[in-house]
Amino acid sequence: MINKVAIVTGANKGIGLGIVKELCKRGVSHVYLTARDEKRGVEAVNNLKLEGYNPLFHQLDITNEESVIRFAGFIKTELRGIDILFNNAAVAGDNVTGATYEDANRVISVNFDSILTIEKYIFPLLNNNARVINVSSDLGHLSKLKNKYWISTLSKDDLTLDNVKKFTDWFLDAVRNNTLKEEDFSLPYFLSYVVSKIALSAYTRIQQKKIGRGISINSLHPGFVKTSMTKETGMLTIEQASDAPVYLALDADQSIKGKYIWFDKTEKEWTNISLDLNYVDPSLFKKLLDRRAIETPLKVYHEE
Ligand SMILES: NC(=O)c1ccc[n+]([C@@H]2O[C@H](COP(=O)([O-])OP(=O)(O)OC[C@H]3O[C@@H](n4cnc5c(N)ncnc54)[C@H](OP(=O)(O)O)[C@@H]3O)[C@@H](O)[C@H]2O)c1
Repeated sequence: MINKVAIVTGANKGIGLGIVKELCKRGVSHVYLTARDEKRGVEAVNNLKLEGYNPLFHQLDITNEESVIRFAGFIKTELRGIDILFNNAAVAGDNVTGATYEDANRVISVNFDSILTIEKYIFPLLNNNARVINVSSDLGHLSKLKNKYWISTLSKDDLTLDNVKKFTDWFLDAVRNNTLKEEDFSLPYFLSYVVSKIALSAYTRIQQKKIGRGISINSLHPGFVKTSMTKETGMLTIEQASDAPVYLALDADQSIKGKYIWFDKTEKEWTNISLDLNYVDPSLFKKLLDRRAIETPLKVYHEE
């Protein structure tokens, strides 16, 4: 038995659920499956119980400040702090190409802004030497940007939260004003998601510098995984994709701090924009685009 308290956000399905299961399998004593929807969360916990695992449940909607405050209050009164925190919950957004302001705002709010709410209320409850894993993406690597100003700003050693917020605001303004330029990015797909995950990985580096107390904070690309986010087109199963996250939480050296970790457990330099990270078979990616396009037809940029 590993006597630790672990929290996983957005864990009623997908990679979060896989991480909960793997943490239970490894014998972590208090594994909290959290979900924004109580019914879906409790159902997921009950299903894991049928398989012989024993996770615990608490409601947590990361975009709802009241919900985060309630969860923080629960930890304060019922638990002895947090040893492992997975910031896993995220949304991909409705738009495959182009973006509507409303959807871009929602994606950035869930995938990045909510991390600031979690930092405000939950980070004070982290125990010394705790481990935080911010689940990012390959689309959150700096190489997914082409805009020279933002590449240079986001790779600065003295990067600030204000810089990162200006980056997300720059994108949202471009969407609102219909001035978004495809050439600012390496690929023309899922741009709101790309911006949100680049912001998350950039901010992970800042969080690590601030936190102290031996705590490690890393961002992670879990691989291209068969979940509802990818319309089940990924290369990895949820079980396979849980391996690297749980390794970071339980087995990796505590000296790994403020890094960007790939799903094969190696570190990739986040600021190295010449890294070739295109590991997904193009036909598989096309399958994802086709399945998503059925729901949201592909758009042309600057469509009148
Ligand atoms: N799948 C991939 O290939 C892939 C690749 C790279 C990175 N990732 C990252 O891996 C993580 C997990 O993705 P996934 O593929 O497992 O996605 P998924 O199956 O769509 O699961 C996403 C989870 O996040 C939850 N969620 C969304 N908004 C939330 C909120 N406001 N508060 C709390 N929970 C919320 C969802 O809850 P509901 O069920 O209530 O919607 C769901 O449980 C994400 O950070 C994603 O960006 C995935």
